[in-house]
Amino acid sequence: MTHTSAPGNVLLLGGTGRTGRLVLEELLERGIPVRAIVRSAERLPARVAEDPRLTVVEADLATLPGEELRRLMAGCGAVVSCLGHNVSLRGVFGPPRDLVAGTVERLCDAATALRPDVPVRLVLMSSVSVNRPARADARRGAGERALTWLVRSLLPPARDNQRAADFLALEVGAAAPFVEWVVVRPDTLVDGEVSEYRTHDGIVSSLFRADATRLANVAHFMAELVTDGAAWPRWRGQMPVVVDDAVAP
Ligand SMILES: NC(=O)c1ccc[n+]([C@@H]2O[C@H](COP(=O)([O-])OP(=O)(O)OC[C@H]3O[C@@H](n4cnc5c(N)ncnc54)[C@H](OP(=O)(O)O)[C@@H]3O)[C@@H](O)[C@H]2O)c1
Repeated sequence: MTHTSAPGNVLLLGGTGRTGRLVLEELLERGIPVRAIVRSAERLPARVAEDPRLTVVEADLATLPGEELRRLMAGCGAVVSCLGHNVSLRGVFGPPRDLVAGTVERLCDAATALRPDVPVRLVLMSSVSVNRPARADARRGAGERALTWLVRSLLPPARDNQRAADFLALEVGAAAPFVEWVVVRPDTLVDGEVSEYRTHDGIVSSLFRADATRLANVAHFMAELVTDGAAWPRWRGQMPVVVDDAVAP
């Protein structure tokens, strides 16, 4: 059995963040009930906070026990994670350094324990700085490889995102019985309304000549993945790169 379109409830992580709040709006506009785990409900956009399809649970994912996460995931056909480390000294360098990878691992454990009839769809927000394993992406030039190495060495969040993607690709794999996944890789995030955008199998631009990706387009694509019958089979088990179509000058 597979989902064809609406997945029932969606569990949303990071719904108070820059991308997560747009995903929340996209899903609610599509009539999808959302269960959002947030640290502070006050940080949710006021215009959606009263939506009857939204259930808010206040919890810190760094300390939420596994069985509680499992309970919150029960009945959800999809999980969307827009989790990220806060952009502050403490957020970037303080614990938990494995916020994203650790949470992804616990989500997969929860799915396995729940044994749903249809695999849970897990959509993870990531970055073009994350590589697919086995050198599946176009080989970057020496300067770009040095930059990526430096960023991962110096910035724990960049390492965390790569570990989360590696975990899904190498440990969970594309044929796990209870969870399927897509790792969404936007380029440089910018503001703006939903516009035309493209999804690529792999990296298309140099880190030194980055493309732009509107946050709204990332949110739109993530919502398509969990609600559109064609998007999921096209991308499951993959790490699509999302970039805006160039806007004519
Ligand atoms: N160009 C790129 O490819 C690119 C650029 C930027 C980001 N990214 C990646 O995309 C992801 C999302 O980016 P963003 O800019 O939308 O993130 P963001 O605005 O920083 O939002 C992060 C979200 O994670 C939540 N969070 C952090 N720690 C948490 C915890 N312990 N428990 C529960 N929730 C927690 C935050 O909650 P609070 O509101 O409570 O803090 C917030 O909702 C990140 O993984 C980031 O690395 C990629």
